[in-house]
Amino acid sequence: MPPELVAHRGASHARPEHTLAAYELAIAQGADGVECDVRLTRDGHLVCVHDRTIDRTSGGSGVVSAMTLDELRRHDFGTWHGGEPAPVLTFDELLGLVADSGVRLFAETKHPVRYRGEVERKVAEALDGHRVDAVMMSFSVAAVRRFKALRPDVPTVLLFGRAWPQRLPPFADIAGPGVHLLRRYPARGAGSYCWTVDEADDIALCVERGVRFLATNNPAQTRGVLGAN
Ligand code: G3P
Ligand code: CA
Repeated sequence: MPPELVAHRGASHARPEHTLAAYELAIAQGADGVECDVRLTRDGHLVCVHDRTIDRTSGGSGVVSAMTLDELRRHDFGTWHGGEPAPVLTFDELLGLVADSGVRLFAETKHPVRYRGEVERKVAEALDGHRVDAVMMSFSVAAVRRFKALRPDVPTVLLFGRAWPQRLPPFADIAGPGVHLLRRYPARGAGSYCWTVDEADDIALCVERGVRFLATNNPAQTRGVLGAN
């Protein structure tokens, strides 16, 4: 089975990451799944932003967790990447787009320590309101454990980029290595969620190892490379 293609932050090569336009393009390009990073605003809303601050991906500046949703909405998250002006995307808006689309949603919770489980609790709650084929992910063992206790039915990925754990904890269903680790651990990779895979040699390596989910910034090009292999 070839890997399922997961559009990392949407089709983020062609469109500004974490905008509706990036996710719409990913779905139009036939991605099997979409990935998003989830943070909490000061007033308790989940928004799709990767960095701790909005400085890189908007025209403004500030720390996401110190801003309200209304404050975030005053900034443009599109033109920095050459796109149309775009508001911050809430997790709920992304769920609305993905619901009933047949595309899987891979939600990665950020800053797990600061809020002691609040992000995971809110993600679990938000999923309840939508018919979405969701997967929860985190680099934090504690975050994955907390989420699994709330939603045992939702598959979980434990992400890692330094060393491959000897064994996954029981509450993590899928290993989530950075693609560079496939080279360091030649016997591993089968069934994993591998990130972030844009280069032809990395794509070929994922296929060879039996990676199940391949996160890419450029789903159209990656699909082409997969087809040529
Ligand atoms: O898909 C997992 C990958 O996104 C983890 O790294 O830094 O892009 O969130 P990062
Ligand atoms: Ca991520």
